Amino acid sequence: AQSERESIFIALNFAKNFYANQLSQHPDGQALGLTYLRERGFLDKTIQAFELGYSSDTWDGLLQAAKKQGFTADILEKSGLLIRRDDGREYDRFRGRVMFPIHNTSGKVIGFGARILGSDKNQPKYINSPETEVYNKSEVLFGLFQAKNAIRQADNCYLAEGYTDVISLHQAGVANVVASSGTSLTAEQIQLIKRYTHNVTVLYDGDWAGIKASLRGIDMLLEAGLNVRAITFPDGDDPDSYLRKVGGSAFTAYLQTAAKDFISFKASLFAEDAARDPIRKAEIIRDIVQSISLIPDLINRSVFLKQCSQLLGVEEEILLAESNKIILKKQ
Ligand code: UTP
Ligand code: MN
Ligand code: MN
Ligand code: MN
Ligand code: MN
Repeated sequence: AQSERESIFIALNFAKNFYANQLSQHPDGQALGLTYLRERGFLDKTIQAFELGYSSDTWDGLLQAAKKQGFTADILEKSGLLIRRDDGREYDRFRGRVMFPIHNTSGKVIGFGARILGSDKNQPKYINSPETEVYNKSEVLFGLFQAKNAIRQADNCYLAEGYTDVISLHQAGVANVVASSGTSLTAEQIQLIKRYTHNVTVLYDGDWAGIKASLRGIDMLLEAGLNVRAITFPDGDDPDSYLRKVGGSAFTAYLQTAAKDFISFKASLFAEDAARDPIRKAEIIRDIVQSISLIPDLINRSVFLKQCSQLLGVEEEILLAESNKIILKKQ
């Protein structure tokens, strides 16, 4: 007999094909979904590579089609595709949205992210599959299935925030990119990356939320023993919007020139503060030493302390003493 897990995988795969068909065949899917994706600059080959789709704006389009194929409402609910209320009403979770399938590393669909077309203050921009028997958000990176070979080849992984960042960069030839979509970066996601490379370049949105998230991500990556670089984008752009603004070749050039090691990244974020105010400068140095102290390898730690000393003009011995104090306190 089929296990429940297997049935869920089959239902999710059916839904993926259903949504992809709606996008390419159904008049609404074409007029709304496909138009939206094309306006964002996504080419057909990209839409196919990421198996994008469209959920029509009806209550039970998927439910009806799935029932005809013999899927039960129970399995659809357990797949995160169907919402069943206490009063007995059943309706599709995803309606009137562009569908982004989320794959596991072997390419099976385990969930979806779904975006409204355009903007609407009265509903969330994205809704995502709930946790299910096959979808554990903290253990999944969006785009890893499409990126894993490229990550190995480049021996580097770009880490972005959003679905569309991953897809847009992939289309521009930067295929070694994943996103921790829908959650903040977790230790499990970092272990996933570590299977393919020890080098990560953080590529979060150029707004304050993105910068805060990248600082937290950098510390987690350092703690996991990875080499971390980071890039910010000007004027609140995210990787996708910046790429569309400047074009592919300027974008890939920017990735090369703007990538900073984590110390220069942190120092440059707060450079103006530090120049203005010595107390603030001391805080920034202490913060950088905190991050360095997370690095498990002693030699890497000492190399970064030396760099920090040179960059910020504080004696290495003092930084080392501070770092040792921090490490001792944790033990
Ligand atoms: P962003 O708000 O930066 O969206 O959220 P985006 O990826 O740039 O999307 P576009 O370009 O406007 O289409 C980053 C990620 O956070 C998750 C999604 O995974 C999104 O890609 N998110 C965001 C949600 O899960 N729900 C939301 O309502 C918003
Ligand atoms: Mn390595
Ligand atoms: Mn954002
Ligand atoms: Mn964004
Ligand atoms: Mn965006």
